[in-house]
Amino acid sequence: MQKPFPSTILYGADYNPEQWPESVWQEDMRLMKVARVNIVTINVFSWALLELAPDEYTFGQLDRIMEMLAEHGIAADLATATATPPTWMSRMYPDMWPVTRDGKRLSYGSRQHYCPNSHDYRRKAGALVRRLAERYREHPALAMWHVNNEYGDHVKACYCDGCAVAFRRWLMARYTWLPELNDAWSTSFWSQRYFDWEDVMPPRLTPAGNNPGQMLDYQRFMSDSLLECYRLEANVLREVTPAIPITTNFIVAFKPVDYFSWARHIDVISFDLYPRNTTPPWENAFRHDLMRSLKNGQPHLVMEQTPGQLNWMEQNPHKRPGRIRLQSLQAVAHGADGVLYFQWRQSQGGAEKFHSAIVPHEGSERGRIFRQAAQPGAELERIAPDVVGSRIRAEVAIVMDWHNWWAVEYLPGPSDRLRYLEQVKRWYAALHGLNVAIDIVAPEHDLSQYRVVIAPLLYMLKAGVAQNLERYVTAGGTLLTTFFSGIVDEHDRVTLGGYPGELRKLLGIYVEEFDPWTEGMSNEVIIADEPLRGKYACDLWGEVVHLEGARALGVFARDYYAHGPALTVNRSGEGRAYYVATQVSDELASKLARMLCQQAGVELLMEVAEGVEVTRRARSDGRKVYFILNHNDSPAPVTLPQGRFTSLLDGLDFSEQLVIAGRDALILLEK
Ligand code: GAL
Repeated sequence: MQKPFPSTILYGADYNPEQWPESVWQEDMRLMKVARVNIVTINVFSWALLELAPDEYTFGQLDRIMEMLAEHGIAADLATATATPPTWMSRMYPDMWPVTRDGKRLSYGSRQHYCPNSHDYRRKAGALVRRLAERYREHPALAMWHVNNEYGDHVKACYCDGCAVAFRRWLMARYTWLPELNDAWSTSFWSQRYFDWEDVMPPRLTPAGNNPGQMLDYQRFMSDSLLECYRLEANVLREVTPAIPITTNFIVAFKPVDYFSWARHIDVISFDLYPRNTTPPWENAFRHDLMRSLKNGQPHLVMEQTPGQLNWMEQNPHKRPGRIRLQSLQAVAHGADGVLYFQWRQSQGGAEKFHSAIVPHEGSERGRIFRQAAQPGAELERIAPDVVGSRIRAEVAIVMDWHNWWAVEYLPGPSDRLRYLEQVKRWYAALHGLNVAIDIVAPEHDLSQYRVVIAPLLYMLKAGVAQNLERYVTAGGTLLTTFFSGIVDEHDRVTLGGYPGELRKLLGIYVEEFDPWTEGMSNEVIIADEPLRGKYACDLWGEVVHLEGARALGVFARDYYAHGPALTVNRSGEGRAYYVATQVSDELASKLARMLCQQAGVELLMEVAEGVEVTRRARSDGRKVYFILNHNDSPAPVTLPQGRFTSLLDGLDFSEQLVIAGRDALILLEK
């Protein structure tokens, strides 16, 4: 049986002592205590140090590292080391080298150079993981397993012959017999019919556009192939160490891997957070909310963030003073119960030697970055007893679907300007500005707990999704969806009988034509009634919409569909379904989001100045913890809700009004 995990807020870093002489390790332990580190991720890239030749394992160094951590009361997030096979293995099994779409084999000499469907890779990875699990099963330092590292990061898909065989097997399980596959992929088009499973190929480079159904299934297959790699390891770990939680570090909203389908196989969701300095705070908030939502609000972890500069952007400016702390506290504000960095000690050589670390090349605790990383360490330790395990309760959700993402962005027409994640993020930003809690959910998720649901650009409706949305609205929910929704089924085949297909009745509209605009084309939405009354810019997309029961709240100002509906609402059962037929300005999106939330009775946590973010976590005893984060450089006034509060960071009492300094955070427990 697993115990609740974690029992305190985790704070730490990727730790790579194998890059250093052992004389440095003791100094690391001292410095970790100064920074209040309580967990480190180790062994991520150590396969070559653990298996020196086929089946010749050596664990002496890892034993010493684990011992040292245990002695110092620092927990190990022990990685399985399978992200980078040793050089001898790459030489022995050249079939393991991944192949790109245009047929190039990728060599070793960096990392992640394996095909996820390689039998040799999987066999050797499984064997290594069993050795590790059996060796450290009782070790006092072992707190969590860290499977592999950032699945799919460098090799998003492989197109080798081994993958072709595995793809056919995957398709056979999905379609059982060939006519079904032909039907799903619409192979009557362009003479693409299959007469033998052997003829089915990965969607390699072709003279003209690939079959969209095949492309889509390949994305699914690749996400599943990586998941199989993960599960192969996780199954071994669960068998040998059933009480130790398992994680693998995700890469935020990462298109190649459908994290919704992975989440149930993972005990603790963790992810790597690498914003640019220009990334707005709401975008980091979106990333946290997505991760937290993957397991229905169970606290997640930031597995990696950088304490200073990165090394893999075109230019890598430092994080400005105060940002590390604010970003760390923002993670906790959005439901995380742990924040770790990449990495502890800055490498002397290798491709990441200019990636910052808590301990810089200079080697001491005297520098700005170390001191700035140590501050949240102390603060998280202080707030942990009052915060760990508490939950965010959202009344608003945004629907996001990886399959829709894959389909909408592999479209031979009608527009290459459609970016699914951008649409999701636009609506997230509009809601975030209201300081409401937001979940990000899959379209088949039970929506009954939400007052407002926004499902942007839901081009693909998989089986059952339309009915799920209908159930939600008729029971009293408020739904908003946007242009180019309800167009195709799960095989990317158009739903006949008029757009928006299965949503036509729910939305009470018929879309006769959609009109993707080129750069520079635009229009306006005119709204006659309050509270949205006004004229708003719109771009990207227009539509010819006919009302079939819905009411037009806004109309297009110009073009051949001038006066035609641009924003509609339809009553259905106890609820309402809104439709936006274009990409509206941020201003209109924000006002709409506010109107929907107010009408639906969503609790807005606090009205604060722009750039100030407010979240709330609820503890199991019912008491609430408010997080107020000022992302601005200048101070901002805050009016607190009714009641008295204790600041968990400094013990001071607050009520009614206060002023929060620029780049500062307040964490207030309701009395
Ligand atoms: C991550 C990776 C780490 C390190 C880091 C540098 O993608 O998991 O191993 O490379 O980036 O920013």
